[in-house]
Amino acid sequence: MRLVIPAYAKINLTLDVLGTRPDGYHNLRMVMQSVNLCDRLAIETGTGTEEISLRCNVPGIPCDERNLVHRAIVAFYEATGVTPDGISVAIEKRIPAAAGLAGGSTDAAAVIRGLDRIYNTRLTSEELRAIGLKIGADVPFCISGGTKLAEGVGEVLSPLPSMPDCILVLVKPEFSMSTPYVFKALDAMTIDHRPNADAMAAALEKQDLAGVSQELYNVMELVTASEHPEIDAIKAELIAHGALGAVMSGSGPTVFGIFRDTAAAHAAYAALLPQYEGVFLCRPKGENGPEDMELAQ
Ligand code: C5P
Repeated sequence: MRLVIPAYAKINLTLDVLGTRPDGYHNLRMVMQSVNLCDRLAIETGTGTEEISLRCNVPGIPCDERNLVHRAIVAFYEATGVTPDGISVAIEKRIPAAAGLAGGSTDAAAVIRGLDRIYNTRLTSEELRAIGLKIGADVPFCISGGTKLAEGVGEVLSPLPSMPDCILVLVKPEFSMSTPYVFKALDAMTIDHRPNADAMAAALEKQDLAGVSQELYNVMELVTASEHPEIDAIKAELIAHGALGAVMSGSGPTVFGIFRDTAAAHAAYAALLPQYEGVFLCRPKGENGPEDMELAQ
């Protein structure tokens, strides 16, 4: 059986770190949004061996047990009791890795959804999210996607009204951030200003793009932007090109700007493209649905 499935990136409209937990993780409160920048996974089962075989178009991405897709396949087999009959996954990566866009987590989520479809295990979204949580805190969100308030370590999800349509310019500078490092550095800091997720939810409810843009806020900028001046420089350049608002996503380093005006977004894209490693134009994306998958016998 062969199935092709897209894996959408996420951005954080707000991100707040509330404190540490006994397990070393942090309680979060964040508004997460899927975007239509995506990887594509071609999954083939019944390859006749017991092996999990991964390949990826981008050099430098590990294709062994370190890859979250590998771990997600093992977790799916364990949770469902499905007998492995050989699987190969070709990952076509377009989402930059270690960028704050959940690139690895969304690939893991996509393979869990894909295997549920191939093996007709008909797991509920709760069951799919529980398998995803074993792989990483962002994976449960990536299972459903859309616009969600995420709490706990990121696994307690509440639906929010969709983000109003707009154009997003995503800019990834060359450096990468280690997420555990950012959490650790933040533990030693005083957070004076925090996002207002309720005000963000109210702006989404009103479909008020200017209000959404005004409420963008990420406490992790305290660490990443203070160590890397590019973050503020990118934000300033996006605003100078007409973005209604701009903020860093996740632990970074990707920064995105929200544009109402297509021409302004394209002008920002053209100006930033020669300066930074990755620059992308995309749009907010609604919840994942079965229609995204292409299944072939
Ligand atoms: O869950 P995931 O593997 O994506 O998280 C990466 C790292 O980020 C964790 O090992 C942990 O150090 C940190 N983290 C955290 N609190 C969260 C999510 C992640 O401390 N809620």
